[in-house]
Amino acid sequence: MHIDSLLTSVPYSESSSRGELLLVYLPENKGMKDKISNYIDTHKDRFLEELFELLRVPSVSADPKFNNDVRQGAESVKDSLIKAGVDKAELFETAGHPVVYGEKFISEDLPTILVYGHYDVQPADPIELWDTPPFEPTIKKTSIHPDGAIFARGACDDKGQMYMHVKAFEAMISTDTLPCNVKFMIEGEEEVGSEHLADFISEYKEMIAADVILISDTAMIANDTPSVTTGLRGLCYLEVELIGPNIDLHSGVYGGAVGNPINVLSKLIADLQDENGVIKIPGFYDDVQIVSEEEREQMAKAPFDLEEFKSGLEINDVQGEQGYSTSERTTIRPSCDVNGIWGGYIGDGAKTVLPSKANAKISFRLVPNQNPDKIQKLVADHLQNIAPKSVKIKVTPHHGGMPVVTPPNSIGYKAAHLAMQDTFGKAPIPKRGGGSIPIVALFEQVLGLKSILLGFGLNSDALHSPNEHYGLFNFYKGIETIPRFYHHYTKLFAKN
Ligand code: BES
Ligand code: MN
Ligand code: MN
Repeated sequence: MHIDSLLTSVPYSESSSRGELLLVYLPENKGMKDKISNYIDTHKDRFLEELFELLRVPSVSADPKFNNDVRQGAESVKDSLIKAGVDKAELFETAGHPVVYGEKFISEDLPTILVYGHYDVQPADPIELWDTPPFEPTIKKTSIHPDGAIFARGACDDKGQMYMHVKAFEAMISTDTLPCNVKFMIEGEEEVGSEHLADFISEYKEMIAADVILISDTAMIANDTPSVTTGLRGLCYLEVELIGPNIDLHSGVYGGAVGNPINVLSKLIADLQDENGVIKIPGFYDDVQIVSEEEREQMAKAPFDLEEFKSGLEINDVQGEQGYSTSERTTIRPSCDVNGIWGGYIGDGAKTVLPSKANAKISFRLVPNQNPDKIQKLVADHLQNIAPKSVKIKVTPHHGGMPVVTPPNSIGYKAAHLAMQDTFGKAPIPKRGGGSIPIVALFEQVLGLKSILLGFGLNSDALHSPNEHYGLFNFYKGIETIPRFYHHYTKLFAKN
C-alpha cells in the first residue's frame, strides 16, 4: 500500500471563528473522525470496564510485596494490546519489572509512532486518607469533573492515560482507519526512576526504532483550556544521613554539649535556600537556561488563577523564588524539597533523648541545561562543606533524570496541536510541565527522537496523592484525539 492511496484526495479547509490555525481535512480524514467517534460511542462502557480491570491490579513498582501484581499488570496490558489488534505483543524481562512491547506494521512507506506509557503506579499510602479504596475504581462527580471521574491509584498516572492509547488503537484498527505503523512500549518502573529501561532501549534500539514518540503522562491546563506539554523538569534525588554520638543519649546529661544530628540536619536544610527562595549551593544555577523575557511573556498568557490555586490547596499564600510567578516557579525554575525527614523519638508522650542519627530525603527539580549527576555532586560537596565537625554526614544518591524541551516547530508538535484543536475546538496552549519522566531524555540520547507530550490529566487530579482520579471527559477526549494525531502526523510526515 502506498501512502498516496491513503492520503491523497481533494482537500477542503475549515477555519474556526476565533481565527485560529487553519484545519485542513482530507475527505478520508473527515470519514475517520465520524467512524472513530461512532466507535467510541458504541464501546464506551466496555472501554471503562476494561480500564477498571487494569486499575484493580495493585501494580506498585516501589514495593516488592506487589511484584506479582506488577507482573499481572504487565500481562493484562499485553493481552489488551493483542485484543486491540497488534501483530504481536510480548513481555520483555529486565533486571526489574517487565516491559510490554507490541507492534502493528502496515508499510515501510509510512511513519512509525512509538507510544510510551507506564503500567506501574505509586504506592497508595496513606490508605486511610482515601474516601474509596485505591484499587477499587469508583466513579464520582467533582466540581472540576461534573461528568464524573474515576477514583483509583493510577487512574490518571498513568494507566488511564496509557489505556486511551490502547483503545484509540483498537478504534483505528476496528474502523480500518489506522494510517501508519505503531509500536507500544509500556514499562513497569517509571515510578521508581526507569532504572532498567535505559538498558532495554539500548539493547532493543532497532526493534523500537520509530519516527516520533507519543506520550500521555502529563497534564493540560484545564478541560476547557487544552495544552500541549513542551518540556519537563529533571530530577536529582538524594538521601542524607547525619551521624552524631554512637548511641542515643540522655538529653539532660549531654544536651548542650554534643551535636544533635536532628538540630544540625534542620539547620543544613534551612540553609539550602535564602530568604528569597534562591538555592544557596555554589554553582547550582550555573547551567540554568535563562528564558527570554519574550518567552516568559508568551508563557504568562496561559490562563492561571492564583486564588483558585491557593483555595484548591487550602493555603493562604504561595512561596518560592522571588521575581518569578507561580507557574514559572513550577516549570522554568529549579526547586528544592525535603520529601521526608526522620529521626529521634516519635512515639507517644515525651522522651528526653539526644538522638544518634537523623535522616532526610531531598530532591531538586532541574531545568534545562542542568545535569542531575553534576547537581548531585554539588549538593553532596556543599553539605559536606557546611556540616559541622560534630556530626558525620553520608549522602546516598537515588535515581534522577534530565530535563527536556520539545521544540514547537517539529511535525510531531504540529500534529499534536492540530489534533487537540480538532477535538477541543480551540488551539492548545504550549505549556511546560513541572514533573519528570526520566526516560524522555534517554529517548533523545539513545534513539535521537523527541517525544510529544500529549497529556490529558489535570494537575488537580491528585497524582501520587490519596484520591487520585481521572475525568471521564478526559479519558474519552484522549481516545478521540489520539487517532487525529496519527492522521495529522502521517500527513505532515508525507509532505516532509
Ligand atoms: N507522570 C508523572 C510525571 C508528570 C506529572 C509530568 C505531571 C508532568 C506533569 C510521572 O509518573 C512521575 O510521577 N514522575 C516522577 C519521576 C520519578 C523519577 C519517580 C516525578 O515527577 O516525581
Ligand atoms: Mn506518570
Ligand atoms: Mn507518577
